[in-house]
Amino acid sequence: MSQGRFSHLLSPGRIGKLQLRNRMIVTSMGVSLAEEDGTVGDCIRAYHEEQAKGGVGLIISGACGVAWPVGAVQRNQLAISEDRFIPGLRSLTDAVHAHGAKFAVQLHQGGLVAGLDLYAGRPLWCPSPPPYDPQDQQYTDAFVESELAGLAKKPKIDKVEFKVLTKDDIQLVVRQFAAAAERSQRAGADGVEIHSGHGYLLSSFINPRNNRRTDEYGGPLENRVRFLLEVVRAVRAAVGPDFAVWVKIDSQQFGAPDGIQLPFAVQTAQMVEAAGADAITVSSYHNVGRLKLHSESNIPHAPGWNLPAAETIKRAISIPVIASGRVEPEVADAKIAAGAFDFLGMGRKLLADPHLPRKLRDGKPETIRPCIYCYTCVSCIYLQDSARCAVNPDTAFEYLRSTKTAASPKRYVVVGGGPGGMEAALRLDALGHKVTLLERTNRLGGTLQIAALPYEPNERLLEFLRGRIAASKVEVRLNTSATAEVVSALKPEAVLVATGAKRSMPPIPGAGLPNVFSGDDMRRMMTGQPDPDSVKALPLLARLATKVGAALGLTAHPAFVRGATRRWMPLGQRIVIIGGELVGLELAEFLVERGRTVTVLEEASRLGYGLQLVRRMRVLAELPEHGATLCASVKDVRIEPGVVRFRNAVGQEVAVDVDHVIVAKGAGANPTTAEELRAAGLNVHAFGDCQGIGYIEGALRGAADLVNELTRAG
Ligand SMILES: Cc1cc2nc3c(=O)[nH]c(=O)nc-3n(C[C@H](O)[C@H](O)[C@H](O)COP(=O)(O)O)c2cc1C
Ligand code: SF4
Repeated sequence: MSQGRFSHLLSPGRIGKLQLRNRMIVTSMGVSLAEEDGTVGDCIRAYHEEQAKGGVGLIISGACGVAWPVGAVQRNQLAISEDRFIPGLRSLTDAVHAHGAKFAVQLHQGGLVAGLDLYAGRPLWCPSPPPYDPQDQQYTDAFVESELAGLAKKPKIDKVEFKVLTKDDIQLVVRQFAAAAERSQRAGADGVEIHSGHGYLLSSFINPRNNRRTDEYGGPLENRVRFLLEVVRAVRAAVGPDFAVWVKIDSQQFGAPDGIQLPFAVQTAQMVEAAGADAITVSSYHNVGRLKLHSESNIPHAPGWNLPAAETIKRAISIPVIASGRVEPEVADAKIAAGAFDFLGMGRKLLADPHLPRKLRDGKPETIRPCIYCYTCVSCIYLQDSARCAVNPDTAFEYLRSTKTAASPKRYVVVGGGPGGMEAALRLDALGHKVTLLERTNRLGGTLQIAALPYEPNERLLEFLRGRIAASKVEVRLNTSATAEVVSALKPEAVLVATGAKRSMPPIPGAGLPNVFSGDDMRRMMTGQPDPDSVKALPLLARLATKVGAALGLTAHPAFVRGATRRWMPLGQRIVIIGGELVGLELAEFLVERGRTVTVLEEASRLGYGLQLVRRMRVLAELPEHGATLCASVKDVRIEPGVVRFRNAVGQEVAVDVDHVIVAKGAGANPTTAEELRAAGLNVHAFGDCQGIGYIEGALRGAADLVNELTRAG
């Protein structure tokens, strides 16, 4: 193996006879970018082609229906159930091969999770009717009002029917998998991954919780795995000994003691190896009736969540193991070196930056755009939309974006050094234009500095954007207000305004009391950018600490603030947060982690607007677990000395004793700067939060769209 950082991850590897240029794999992600009829079109081809250009060794397609449309989970899902899907797939494999990557098709039958069968009025294929648990939570329990309204416009599911498979049905599915594998081979794929995890048809047979059959496909593990083994053997027979065939299995089902457990998974892996598979992809599943667990299995929140299971399975078999689940490249490199697993499957990291492998190879890890684990991508899929990435506006839109360098460079001024402003400046710079970035305060980051305090992954994005700006040709002018005079003097082709939201204190009775902070007060206090008014409620010691932190530059570092505030914070024990959207809930997380007793009050009927569904499911479960009280549908909030009063969802008067109140609402569009510059005759384009709150994704997407629009002509 070659020496150097990431040398193990970058070393070639083999799955069966399939030779890969490195150990990095795009793990299967059903991103809903195929055409409506399941064929390959420009969108999904360009998406995978970009991944191939990015240097990954192998790309595994998203779930590809072997019986499509039967068993389909998503709209715009790939299909391989008939020969007519081969030409499109061939164009995709050719595009990927042209950049040196290999391509495998994930063979899939959705079974009990086949959402599209439900919408089409088809029964769900299963081993036996699934158990009913009255404790089960539904996704819609975590929906915000806009999602509930969206749901009302979707086709209704009249009834849920189950098709308990007969032995003939089982044999039909076995033939469908085999035929699909053979079609994949004819379409130029280099291998197939048989999906036997995540609650889909094959795993529902393995799972004792779902499989109550009494025939040779139910009962002991050998029987429950029979269906999968028949599929593996039939696929092997269809494609021959030299074509790579492997199986994705669940190592366990979190939150379901009667579901799949690791010892079963170890035996399953051994039987799959004996049946002729070339590798095992180790994943996991969860009790879907527990909303928090949707980010506690195959798309985990905790780093390296599935690695212990992958290592256990690796020790029990002799074929390679593909591991995944929020694994950092450094960790993967060391684990591969230690023989803990063989290949790293990455999902979200490669949505955020498909060029991650190339950047590691080129020794430039600092240029990798980081995933912020916001769950936008997967929440889109839950909501039956196509996937997008919050930090990478190009992902899934590769076929629309142009990266042509400008024939004649122009001068642009970007106003506002938050995430949107930095992104726009970087994009213009990359296209060869001359860019001046004006920032009113003494550092870049804008609201992202605040977002980085409660949620560490956001800090990585902040550091990435700052680092890229520092390495670019963008001229940054800090402590500079974008007056018409300053901007006009630069004679820009256009001015891109991303000055961020305006925060005003909502008219809450008692909001002027000294123990009430606005969002701006918190912002200035935490980032060490105080003004005399904002810190009026703080005791002398707190004022001093804020000033010292700022003077030493310490409050410029979110990690420092996160650490220091664990030891001391100028806030009392009992805190009421008024506003239960993203900002209020992330702040609540920050405060409960620092031992505060927190109550969150929200006027809307649902909390968590601005958090993406899958992350919201987690936050709404975790906050009460950590002692926070969440109140939706509240009315008549009044703040009095030492107490906050309101009417709860059922109209009762409630009083909460309080030391400090934080008002985490009142942010809105802020057109002032754009209007002033426009009035001076400049060509002004506003985007991001100053146009209306869109959070990190809105800022970055707004920047990409605007730069695209301004530079399309060259
Ligand atoms: C948007 C999205 C779609 C996914 N779809 C699939 C799928 O079709 N088949 C599958 O086996 N896993 C699917 N997964 C799970 C991934 O294969 C993988 O287990 C997970 O993303 C963990 O890797 P990561 O932490 O690097 O993202 C999906 C994940 C994401 C984020
Ligand atoms: S949408 Fe969020 S979680 Fe998904 S890849 Fe992008 S940054 Fe990561």
